[in-house]
Amino acid sequence: MTPIVILGAGGHGRVVQELIRALGIYEVVGFLDRGEPGLRPGGVRVLGGDDMLPELHRQGVRHAFAAVGANALRERIGNDLRRMDMEQPSLVHPTAFLAPSARVSEGALVMARAVVGTDARLAPFAILNTGAIVDHDADLGIACHVAPGCALAGNVTVGARTLIGVGSSVRPEITIGADVVIGAGSAVVRDIEDGARVAGAPARPLGSRS
Ligand SMILES: CC(C)(COP(=O)(O)OP(=O)(O)OC[C@H]1O[C@@H](n2cnc3c(N)ncnc32)[C@H](O)[C@@H]1OP(=O)(O)O)[C@@H](O)C(=O)NCCC(=O)NCCS
Repeated sequence: MTPIVILGAGGHGRVVQELIRALGIYEVVGFLDRGEPGLRPGGVRVLGGDDMLPELHRQGVRHAFAAVGANALRERIGNDLRRMDMEQPSLVHPTAFLAPSARVSEGALVMARAVVGTDARLAPFAILNTGAIVDHDADLGIACHVAPGCALAGNVTVGARTLIGVGSSVRPEITIGADVVIGAGSAVVRDIEDGARVAGAPARPLGSRS
């Protein structure tokens, strides 16, 4: 099996470890994270910090996966890995459904029971979380995160580093900007500008609700 190292030993990193095991293609050699090296709860073996990457590369580990939940940090780590010539596979859980024409880029993650529709596209480091659906022609930007149970209708565009909170729905043809936060359980029925924080059904800017 191909050796791979996971960057990020938190909850998201453990989810990624289980997904990799389910694929049966890669062998996880360990995690890189801050703090003391050693074995942590959940069978997480922290080898050291990111500064270990060149040594791992020398030892023949050429695959890595950025597995931190914070979108901007995940993008930064992914870009660092590119500069170090680490290969970053796309990871798709065996129970996910991918339309034949869907495209999932390097470092992107499709979790269990998620659905990626016809001609939908996931940019690098995007996360489509458990049971989330993106319908045809959806365009998920770099390092965005569509949380568990979301439903995005056809032709929805999501900007870079945007978080769509758990269980949200998005109407067809909607464009959501970059660095947006959409609260859990929201219904998005209008386009959303870069950097906005919105929540509710229909989703409105946080702080401006009566
Ligand atoms: C939207 C969100 C980011 C706001 O977090 P926050 O800045 O800590 O805001 P607070 O919890 O202090 O709430 C601020 C106000 O917004 C309201 N609010 C917060 N989240 C809301 C939501 N999802 N829907 C509707 N209203 C919401 C609160 O009731 C509060 O209203 P008030 O001022 O009238 O009392 C957060 O609540 C949220 O929904 N995050 C999504 C998390 C998620 O799904 N992560 C994916 C994990 S896999």
